[in-house]
Amino acid sequence: MSAIEFDNVGRLFERDGRSFPALDGVDLTVADKEFVALVGPSGCGKTTCLRMAAGFEAPSSGRVLVGGAPVPGPGPDRAVVFQQFALFPWKTVADNVAFGLRNKGMAAPERRDRIAAIIKLMGLDGYETAFPHQLSGGMQQRVAIARAYVLDPQVLLMDEPFGALDAQTRVVMQEELVRIARINPRTVLFITHAVEEAVYLADRVAVMTQRPGRIKEVLDVRAIRAAENWDRHARVEDVMDLESFVHLRTHIWRSLREEKVGGER
Ligand SMILES: Nc1ncnc2c1ncn2[C@@H]1O[C@H](COP(=O)(O)OP(=O)(O)O)[C@@H](O)[C@H]1O
Ligand SMILES: [Mg+2]
Repeated sequence: MSAIEFDNVGRLFERDGRSFPALDGVDLTVADKEFVALVGPSGCGKTTCLRMAAGFEAPSSGRVLVGGAPVPGPGPDRAVVFQQFALFPWKTVADNVAFGLRNKGMAAPERRDRIAAIIKLMGLDGYETAFPHQLSGGMQQRVAIARAYVLDPQVLLMDEPFGALDAQTRVVMQEELVRIARINPRTVLFITHAVEEAVYLADRVAVMTQRPGRIKEVLDVRAIRAAENWDRHARVEDVMDLESFVHLRTHIWRSLREEKVGGER
């Protein structure tokens, strides 16, 4: 089991010699194999939440648990994908994907099979020997996601992973992620600015308040999904009741706008 739990989490930061709260009383659980999208105004502490689940930072108060135990630090059970692809420019696609596996003590043939499988899954076959600069932004981000998936982590932490992509590539990547998540469900915490993306991808969408961030509300998306179409290589209108989709999207937009208007400082 690999649920992520934020239990009354606070986080203080220092600025100009004074400490200020970035997060105050965050309560959120991402169930085992659940996909939760986190949306909220800029600076509300989304990335800080994700970094605590990754083990890059510790909470100032409260607890962050993964699999029922406090996060001790970064670990191979959790993979992180950032907005910036962060590939090694001097390594090929295959070597970039292979990178994290080297420390897993896996035999070479098994490692090769695994890399080949994930490269195929991400639609990167034929590009194994290409270098990142020879690929489009969308393909580079596929490599970054492949590198995370190849470790077969129980938990995927994604911080605006499609934010740097053009609109068309973004849609392709969203559909890819839906497809892969269907084949290989994982516990996912996914930060995005894009409300439609959140509703399309997630089982539930958590909306944060302005700084100091806490969870304002959590919306369940599963109810408006047409489950029988879910595993088709489908567009939003094929997997959702469109009217409910628009309704939910508008609700979240309003909820976010309240934060921005009320909370500018
Ligand atoms: N290492 C840090 N030191 C000081 N302040 C930080 C640090 N990391 C984040 N912050 C501040 O904490 C707040 C939340 O940041 P962040 O989690 O990046 O928000 P978001 O991802 O929602 O935009 C912001 O005010 C940011 O400036
Ligand atoms: Mg951020």
